Amino acid sequence: MTLRETAKQKLIESSEKKRYDQNRQFMSDLLGSVRQHRLFRHDVLPAMETAQMNGEALVDMHLDFRVLTKQFTDVILMAQFLTREINHRHNEDHMPARFLINLNLLDELGFWPGHGEYLGDPDRSHFRLFEQVVDAMGVSRRGRDDRDHISSVALALLDFVEDGMNDFLTLLLYLVIAEEVALVYSPIMRRAVELYGLDVASGYYNVHGSSEDEDSDAEDDEHQNDAIMILCQYLQRADYPRARKLALEFCDGWAAFWDHQYARCAEVRLSA
Ligand SMILES: [Fe+2]
Repeated sequence: MTLRETAKQKLIESSEKKRYDQNRQFMSDLLGSVRQHRLFRHDVLPAMETAQMNGEALVDMHLDFRVLTKQFTDVILMAQFLTREINHRHNEDHMPARFLINLNLLDELGFWPGHGEYLGDPDRSHFRLFEQVVDAMGVSRRGRDDRDHISSVALALLDFVEDGMNDFLTLLLYLVIAEEVALVYSPIMRRAVELYGLDVASGYYNVHGSSEDEDSDAEDDEHQNDAIMILCQYLQRADYPRARKLALEFCDGWAAFWDHQYARCAEVRLSA
């Protein structure tokens, strides 16, 4: 059994079965509606895949995306801390949940499995890998994470998540949605960046996407499954309306982000 499987089994054993099963059903329904959201059928996807988003628009999108990538580590860290809410609320063991989040954190901070020792490099943290993509595009990052330089849609999403930084439910649902975005968008962003002329065989675009994707060493689907299992331990029925609302608000926020990037690539095309 892998260490992830052991932790998952222990999480299930720590959870009250009836509540866990009910939550499992709720989460599977919720994920079904999330996947129907227009975010995952956005016109920007074929545009990026066929090089219609190029040059300026692609660079601007990366500068926008960068602030959300930076925030993502904070989300994981806070979610890990707040697993204690499981214990406070249900008097159940929260260590399996904390352990699972740590797998995501190790990945995000630039660790990888070694033989008998930890291997890693802060420059391989996903945030730094993302910055290396921006650097390879030849644009200066100086001052580009100022609020004045980021699009209002990226800022709105950033602030929405920031406001929920102390709320376990918000953070877990954001993890689920952001991983879904990574699963659907990363392979296509990778393709757009490749068409732009950058090497995507290593670096940020190699570590994002699904574990089943042959073009990457990613495991965003595993991280998403872990977050869902933690929600299955934590949720109670009274959370369902708010959980549904939050998940769809995050989808709306990301869809607005991509609306902006799509409009931007049309704008660049017209001015060319
Ligand atoms: Fe990542």
